[in-house]
Amino acid sequence: MPFFSVRDVHAWYGESYIVQGVSFDIDKGEVLSLLGRNGAGKTSTLRTLARTDTPALRRGEIWLDGVPLHKMKAYQAAGAGVQLVPEDRRIIGGLTVEENLVLAQVTGKKGWALEEIYDHFPRLYERRTQDAVTMSGGEQQMLAVARALARDIKILFLDEPYEGLAPVIVQEIEKIVRQIRDLGITTIIVEQNAIAALRLSDRAVIMDSGEVVFSGPAKEVLDNPQLRDEYLAI
Ligand SMILES: Nc1ncnc2c1ncn2[C@@H]1O[C@H](COP(=O)(O)OP(=O)(O)O)[C@@H](O)[C@H]1O
Ligand SMILES: [Mg+2]
Repeated sequence: MPFFSVRDVHAWYGESYIVQGVSFDIDKGEVLSLLGRNGAGKTSTLRTLARTDTPALRRGEIWLDGVPLHKMKAYQAAGAGVQLVPEDRRIIGGLTVEENLVLAQVTGKKGWALEEIYDHFPRLYERRTQDAVTMSGGEQQMLAVARALARDIKILFLDEPYEGLAPVIVQEIEKIVRQIRDLGITTIIVEQNAIAALRLSDRAVIMDSGEVVFSGPAKEVLDNPQLRDEYLAI
């Protein structure tokens, strides 16, 4: 069985049928780019896989390392090692950087220690006593990723981690994602900036109108102008 397996997943927001039969697999330690135009259903798919209440999963199976996520609620999926970093990052204001990290550690007992986090994110060490929301967008994204690592983690979902960041900061976050990949943490990255996502991915899935229209090696998308034209506008 693949490390992470999504099998014919269907999900609804109330009466709206949005995720329409999505399937793909990821091996342990791989990075997968989940791509597609605005409104294609990428965020909805990540939310479904993380078992948030909406959209509601009504059909299909989701397996993580032999564990049936499709039978779980969001908090149970998180306990099983699913960590979603949403687009809005959900950094907690009024708490310092370190308090944000410690709070994340409370909910996950097998996550990274503070020392380990600061080793990989020296910028967060420098900022550790600062109110987290006063940091720059790039630093907040760093904190959001670090917080996911502080919890029990088996698979990381990043929803548009480069969104709203200047190109030089994108490069910095990209370096972090590369580090995470080198540590062997299985990752799904959703990005509008497809080129940036593809160049650090093993696999790619392209969605359109809630369905998978391509699934294969990331390199194939980079080399296929027709796919890029039709679904990615790059
Ligand atoms: N909470 C919601 N209720 C109803 N429809 C939604 C909700 N969130 C997203 N949608 C719809 O689901 C579709 C896919 O959205 P989304 O998953 O956010 O796409 P993407 O992340 O690829 O841009 C869109 O048509 C969007 O309008
Ligand atoms: Mg989205």
